[in-house]
Parts: sequence; C-alpha cells; structure tokens
Amino acid sequence: MAMWAGRFSKEIDPAVNDFNSSVSFDSRMYRQDIKGSVAHAVMLGEQGIIDKTESERIVSGLEGILDDIESGKLAFDPNAEDIHMFVEQVLTERLGDTGKRLHTARSRNDQVALDIKYYLKDECDEIMRLTYELIETLITTAEQHYDTVMPGYTHLQRAQPVTFAHHIMAYAQMLTRDLGRLSDCKKRMDTMPLGSCALAGTTYPLNRKRTAELLGFGDITYNSLDGVSDRDHCIELASAISILMMHLSRFSEEMIMWCSWEFKFIELDDAYSTGSSIMPQKKNPDVTELIRGKTGRVYGDLMTLLSMMKNLPLAYNKDMQEDKEAIFDACDTVKLCLSTFTPMFSTMTVLKENMRKAAARGFINATDCADYLVKKGMPFRDAYKITGTLVARCIKLDTTLEELPLAEYKKLSPVFEEDVYKAISLDECVMNRNVDGGPAPEAVARQIERLRSVLGGFEIGD
Ligand code: ARG
Repeated sequence: MAMWAGRFSKEIDPAVNDFNSSVSFDSRMYRQDIKGSVAHAVMLGEQGIIDKTESERIVSGLEGILDDIESGKLAFDPNAEDIHMFVEQVLTERLGDTGKRLHTARSRNDQVALDIKYYLKDECDEIMRLTYELIETLITTAEQHYDTVMPGYTHLQRAQPVTFAHHIMAYAQMLTRDLGRLSDCKKRMDTMPLGSCALAGTTYPLNRKRTAELLGFGDITYNSLDGVSDRDHCIELASAISILMMHLSRFSEEMIMWCSWEFKFIELDDAYSTGSSIMPQKKNPDVTELIRGKTGRVYGDLMTLLSMMKNLPLAYNKDMQEDKEAIFDACDTVKLCLSTFTPMFSTMTVLKENMRKAAARGFINATDCADYLVKKGMPFRDAYKITGTLVARCIKLDTTLEELPLAEYKKLSPVFEEDVYKAISLDECVMNRNVDGGPAPEAVARQIERLRSVLGGFEIGD
C-alpha cells in the first residue's frame, strides 16, 4: 500500500508504479538520504517538535538501516516509489508509530533537493581530485620535456617551434580552470534546503541552521520555493563537466593524431591500446577515441537538464525527477574518463626524435628568419617578403632554411651573414621565446611554478 493511500480508493496500476518509480537510480543516494534524515530527526528532538527519546530511536533505527544496506542485509525494494519512501517505509516497519514521526515538517521535495546537493558536493570533490591528479601528471611529464622541440600548429599546419612541455602545459592550464569551475560550483551548492518542505516552509519552529551544521553545509537556502525547485547546481556541474570533457576530448584528438604513422610523436603503452580483429599491424588508440565520443554524451546530459528546466513553473514538478540520471551519468562518465586518461598518459612513450624531425621540416623558423632581418634594421613587411621568397627557393631546391647556402641568402639581401644560421636554429628559436607564457625552457619553468601555487590554493574535501 502506498504511503499516500488515504486519499485514494484504488491501488496504483503496476505499470504506472514502474513508470513513476525512481528507486532504481536514486537508491545510490541512500547514504545522503539517511544522513539527512538523521540530522532532521536530531533537530526535531532538540527543538522539542518530537519527543527526545523518539528522536533517539529514529536516529538509531536509521543507523541500523544504513548498516544493513551497506552489509547487503537490506535490499532496495524495486516497487518502492523512491529512496525516500523506501527508507521511511523500512523505518516504520521496524519502529512502528515512532518511525511515522520522522516526516514531520518535511516533504520529499526538500528531501530530494537536499540529497542531490549532498551527493553532488562529494562528486565535485572526487572529480576535482581526479583532475588534480591529471594536472600533476602533466606537470611531471612537462618537467622531463623542457627541451623536446616540436612543431606548434595553426590550421594544423606547422607554424612555429614550441616544446612538448609547453604544449602539454597548455592543457594543464585548461584543467586548472576546470578545477576553478568545479570549486565555484561546489561553493554555490553548499546551501541546505531542508525546511523548505513541500514549497511553503512550515509552521513548526525548525532550526534550519542547526540541520545545516549537522550535515556540514555552509549555509541554508533563503526562499522555500527556490529551495525545492532549484536545479542550478545540477546544470552548473554538468556545464563544468562538459567544459572539462571538451578539454579531454581535444587532448584525446591530439593524442590520436600523434599516435598515427603520419605523426608518430608518441606511442601508447600496450595496456592502453587495442588491436584489430582483422588487421594484424594495428594498434588503436581506442581509449582516447572513447573519451572523444563520450564527450558528446555528457553534452547530451547538460542539454537534458537545461531542456527539462526551461519551462517548469515554481515550485516542484515531477519532471525534475529526470535530473538524476543525467547528472549521475555526467559525473560517472567524467570520472571514468579522467581515471583512464591519467595512467594512459603517464605510460606513453614520447618519441622526441620524431617531434624534432617534424619541427625541422616545416619551415617553422621562417618567422625567426624574418625577425633576424628586422633586428638588423629592416621593416618587418620587407623582411617577411624576403623570407617568403627564401622559403619558395628552398622548396624548389628541396632543402631547408638551415641547409640553404649563405650565397642564396645574400642574393636576396646583403644584410644576411653567417650568424643567420644561429638565429634560425630550432633550439635558438625556442630559447629566445622567453617572454612570460612562452615556450623557452625557462619560461615554461616559471609557468609551472606559478601553476603550482595556484593549485596549492584549492581546497578539495576528502
Ligand atoms: N523521486 C522524486 C524526485 O526525484 C522525489 C520527490 C517527489 N515529490 C513529489 N511531490 N512527488 O524528484
């Protein structure tokens, strides 16, 4: 018999019960639900709203339910409407009338709002921890590649020389901003909604701040309608996760290219690659491709949440039950991707020589050649034109700027001297880009030092 049976003269149709039920997916919040109920019962007892001894019996009854779920003694009833109903039902079976007092001054509307925030705060911490680990891995790798020269690209055309350290630190910067977004998001969801009740608060003298304190929330919500119908925290977290996934996906895309025979900049460890069922020579970067693919799925979760909320009148509507599968899926997916990406990255082999060869072949020192002339007094546009002609000459002679004889340079400008070769050497080109944010080894070391201090400022709960 349903808890709300008093108003009804018929049992619910079993198909409707299944359709309505969320216990198959909200049961994962059982711990938050029970702890929320414990805090509520303690506060009701302290306020004299229910008898102290009854409050204590409810608390130990709830603790027993928690133990039994965790030890596997108590299984979720698939016919229960949701986790909130299930816990209350078991409590009432175990304690009789005392169990029935728990729901005083409370509704499932504020209960579910609490459970999600409480659950997602921990998820934020876990995602932040995994992101932090990846950033640490990137920094450790970067520190081994200060002078691993590789081509930097624009339009996927070789453009100017950078280092592998500099390239992967770009991702460390993006992921650190992701940490910032997750941390902001966690701060904003740190408001405790219990006491909003169904929508209009309650006439009982609750001490909401005490409930918040018992649950480790920084503050309470200050409008009961908003308290029960806000799902910004789900949307904000899904947005932060989507951006993080977008970064992982871009990174994955580059790793996929770098593994190809066309690039061969890296080789993935056998444990993080797969073979083909028909082509014996294949070693496929499936993990990175799946991360790229799963990014679309997470964007889908974000769209589900935004679309679900866009025209809901205040306050609670059952549509909002759909929030859970979407946000849980986004959290599960990003955690899975991060925890696979990090070890895959740290076990790959960096093929430094191939990176350098690619850097040597693409005329990526042409800007430096033009800058050489500028430093000797020529206007940049003239220097640009002369260098372009030199590049065309090299292509014709099938050679590189480094190998082109000085006589060829001098034909285009008498300003060229022997020292041009030093100015356009790859190492020199990188070394001289020592501006803050540049790829010179010293500049990258400064970048890492600064990022480390930013990272030290994040508080990640355990
Ligand atoms: N299972 C519901 C949900 O996830 C809990 C709240 C139900 N409230 C209600 N008024 N039917 O949203």
